[in-house]
Amino acid sequence: MRILTGIQSTGTPHLGNLMGAILPAISMGRSPGNDAFLFIADLHSFTTVRNPEVLRENTYAVAAAWLALGLDVERVTFYRQSDVPEVAELAWYLGCLTPFPMLANAHSFKDKSANVNQVNAGLFYYPVLMAADILLYDGQVVPVGKDQKQHLEITRDIAGAFNRAYGEDTLVVPEARIDEQLMTIPGTDGRKMSKSYGNTINIFLPEQELKKQVMGIVTDSKALEEPKDPATDNVFQLFRLVAPAAAVAEMEAKYRAGGYGYGHAKKELLGTLLERFARQRATFQALMADKGELDRQLAVGARKARTVAQATLARVRSRAGYPVSHP
Ligand code: ADP
Ligand code: TRP
Repeated sequence: MRILTGIQSTGTPHLGNLMGAILPAISMGRSPGNDAFLFIADLHSFTTVRNPEVLRENTYAVAAAWLALGLDVERVTFYRQSDVPEVAELAWYLGCLTPFPMLANAHSFKDKSANVNQVNAGLFYYPVLMAADILLYDGQVVPVGKDQKQHLEITRDIAGAFNRAYGEDTLVVPEARIDEQLMTIPGTDGRKMSKSYGNTINIFLPEQELKKQVMGIVTDSKALEEPKDPATDNVFQLFRLVAPAAAVAEMEAKYRAGGYGYGHAKKELLGTLLERFARQRATFQALMADKGELDRQLAVGARKARTVAQATLARVRSRAGYPVSHP
């Protein structure tokens, strides 16, 4: 089964992205029978990112994180969206079969276009490019968050319209897989960990900066000697997610007994993060210092992806009435 999904290239992933999305996706890619396509959606970033250096670095940081966490480029087709420019051509054909109001009514567009004079047409066209991302590679199952559900419906509509016009075997109509109960990792203030709340823990940061984030976790003001409630404490909630069961039980007992402060708990959490992710942190740093190696790893996926892309595009071109090869 061809499972395909896109990853936003908005910078180094945080612990929430890691536990909630990256690690589950990597293990999904490992299960036999799954032919996983994973790509970094760097063309979509161009709707908002204007700095070429930032655009490039964000993509590298995402790639380095996934590779450091164990993605195997020989098993999963892992590529940079812009490495397969065929996607832009397919997006054009698809856009011409997309009813204008379908895009104008998309939540993602409506949310960001309160003032139409301030938005670019790329933002409007975003779902068409996303449809092309999926249809170009014959994606069958697309795991996404709830916020992307409508984009998947748009993709299915566009594929259906194309197939009705040009033959039912032109494009594969994908299914969304919306996992409602994936765990939500809390941030340093107890709300959902998110870039937009500034409450993230970034395990790929240098130790001193990671320490600052951990020490900044919000707690109540119970004194050191008082007993504490693990169920309502942010430090414990994070510890629970990353530490071995025995260590979790031990910390829980110390909370309840009293005489154990939040400062101690934060130090243990930091130590656990540094230990559990030691290898991944080192690999991340090494990859970020060797962009050539990142390019080589991404090229493996780009070559595989491009072969599939060219076959789909040849099918689309010939049915739509365009030459299949160029002079
Ligand atoms: P952010 O909220 O930081 O902007 P994104 O929306 O870019 O994160 O999310 C990228 C992926 O990481 C998505 O699959 C999303 O479900 C997952 N994710 C983000 N934050 C969390 C979290 N706190 N807990 C679990 N998964 C998360
Ligand atoms: N729009 C998706 C997001 O914001 C990222 C994405 C781009 C994507 N192209 C895709 C996801 C194709 C799934 C399939 O998270």
